[in-house]
Amino acid sequence: MSNKLTIGLFGFGVVGQGLHDIIRTKDLNLEIKKIAIKNPEKKRSLSPELFTTDASVILNDPEINTVVELINDTEAAFQIVSTALKNGKNVVSASKKMIALHLEELIHIQEEYGTSLLYEGAVCGSIPIIRNLEEYYDNELLYSVRGIFNGSSNYILSKIFNENLDYGTALKQAQDLGFAETDPISDVGGFDPKYKLVIAASHAYGIITRPEEVLNIGIQTLSSKDIQYAREKNYKIKLVPTALEFGERQVVLYVIPKLIHSADFLYNVENEYNGVIVQAAFADQQFFFGKGAGGHPTGSAVLSDIAALRYGYKYEYKKYRTNRGFVQSNDYTLNVYLRYDDESVIERLGFKEITERFYAPDFKYVIGKIELSNLIANQEFLNNDGVFIAEIVQ
Ligand code: HSE
Repeated sequence: MSNKLTIGLFGFGVVGQGLHDIIRTKDLNLEIKKIAIKNPEKKRSLSPELFTTDASVILNDPEINTVVELINDTEAAFQIVSTALKNGKNVVSASKKMIALHLEELIHIQEEYGTSLLYEGAVCGSIPIIRNLEEYYDNELLYSVRGIFNGSSNYILSKIFNENLDYGTALKQAQDLGFAETDPISDVGGFDPKYKLVIAASHAYGIITRPEEVLNIGIQTLSSKDIQYAREKNYKIKLVPTALEFGERQVVLYVIPKLIHSADFLYNVENEYNGVIVQAAFADQQFFFGKGAGGHPTGSAVLSDIAALRYGYKYEYKKYRTNRGFVQSNDYTLNVYLRYDDESVIERLGFKEITERFYAPDFKYVIGKIELSNLIANQEFLNNDGVFIAEIVQ
């Protein structure tokens, strides 16, 4: 039998309202009893009695058995989620940064208090990738999980490539459509997809790592020269997080722009859509595709988690608990395209091998092999003007 859920909702922004819209249209045997908000002055579409600015009204209400946390303050989100779990409430959250930063602690809290935290909406919006990595790929050897995990940066790249929009206009559109984070550097700088990658890797390989341990290079230094290069060679540029097994149970995690050929599934993933390619030993390649940002798509994943709580669903973190021997390693070499201004950059980055060089007064690039550890050591430098780097598969 399914239990009636009485929900306390935190946050009534893009996703909170999206979820509310969906719930309103269905008879789901659930009730949103209270909605906690930060700003009581904002005009709301619902009855004022439904709202509170006091978190404890929800957290201490014994009737509320389910907390849905959809705010964009990382530390406040952690306090809400951990307190709710400790108070015996099950929780659904879409706060990717908070989950990536506190995952191990959140696993232990769930274990100690017997409560469940679900967060499908935190990774790739509407795409059901977490439950699939956790449940479906339990016995398969996963070679890699990679894709487009950020709707805003993909929207910007699509608008630049397909409609010749300039970067600033495309970013403004992504913000106006409610896709971007409060500080959009999180999207375009590759932080947001990195948090999602960290969460996905814990369910794919059982590895829990700190986001600071993972390289993220973004698209913020993309120039018209890079676009011209990509077009001439029939590539598109996408921002791609990768988790990949290599060597003896080593797993490498990184986020970097990638030059994508038309044969790649990710080539046709446009605008706010996300795509995840899972490469497994026996199933071979599988491709998940769906909207990665926006109120209704993310709200649909949140609702699916809420529905799963009715039946007592919990992530078992099977791969983490059984310790399958995977370790994170940066002992990995990437083949990259690097556009640069200053010749000293080549030496600074310590290329292992250079296979192609182009040199004109207004456009210089090299293609060659570089160790991931060198990219990590130069991460800040590579996110600044004067250089653009993208992985290029040979
Ligand atoms: N800013 C995020 C994105 C929202 O653009 O993908 C969804 O997590």
